[in-house]
Amino acid sequence: MWQQKWVMGNWKMNGRQAANAALLSALRALPASDALVGVAVPAVYITQAAAALADSAVWVGAQDVSRFGDNGAYTGEVSAAMLADAGVQFVLLGHSERRQYFGEDNVLLQTKWQHAVAAGLVPILCVGETLTQREAGEAEAVVAEQLSLLAALKADTVAVAYEPVWAIGTGQVATVAQIGDMHGFIYRQILSLCGESAKIRVLYGGSVNAENAAAILAVPGVDGALVGGASLQAAAFATIIDAAQ
Ligand code: G3P
Repeated sequence: MWQQKWVMGNWKMNGRQAANAALLSALRALPASDALVGVAVPAVYITQAAAALADSAVWVGAQDVSRFGDNGAYTGEVSAAMLADAGVQFVLLGHSERRQYFGEDNVLLQTKWQHAVAAGLVPILCVGETLTQREAGEAEAVVAEQLSLLAALKADTVAVAYEPVWAIGTGQVATVAQIGDMHGFIYRQILSLCGESAKIRVLYGGSVNAENAAAILAVPGVDGALVGGASLQAAAFATIIDAAQ
C-alpha cells in the first residue's frame, strides 16, 4: 500500500441512506484497481458503508476521531476503538474545515493520531495554507508547522494530504508546479522528522475532478488524491480512480 496511489473520497457532511446505498454499490462494482481506494463517510453512515463494502477492496474511513480513549463519559464522542470496531480502516485528521470551525491544533491532533494508530487505523493528516498565507510567502512555513507534530510521534508510516485551503471546493486548483513544489517540500519534511526509512504517501486535495485528475496524479511526489465534491458522483470518482492506475 505504501507504493500504490491512494484515491480517497471525503463525503464531508453529505449523504442520506438511499443515496449512499447507490454510491456505495457503484463503488463496489468498480473494476479492480491498482490504486488503494477509500471513502471517508459521516460517522452515522460508517456501518452502512462497512456493510456495503464488506469483502471489497474499498476502505471505509472516518472524517474525525475523538481525542479520548476507548470508552468513557465523553458525550457525543466516537473513539478510535469504536471506529475500528465498526469497520473503519482510515481516518482523516486535521482537515482544514476542522481546523477552521473546531480550532483543531497540533497538540490535539497528536493525541488523535496516537489513538487512531493504537486502534489500528491509518491516519491521514491534512495540511495546507490559506490564500493569505500563500500570498504572504508563508505556505511552506505553515505546512512545516502543521507537520511538526510528527516529530514526537515516531511514526514510520506517514500519510499526509496536502490541501491548499484556497483550492477546497472552489474549483480553483493549484498549478502542477505549486503542487509539485509543495509535495517535494512535504516529503523532505517528513523524512527529516521521521527518518529516512519512513514509508510515505502524500495525497493532493482541492477541487480534484474527473477532468484534472490525470494531470495532478502525474505530478512527481503526488501519491494520490483526497477528493471532496467529486467523490459524491459515482462516475466522476470512478474516472479519478481510473486516472490513478
Ligand atoms: O478533503 C477533500 C477536500 O477538502 C477537497 O474538497 O470538494 O475541493 O474536492 P473538494
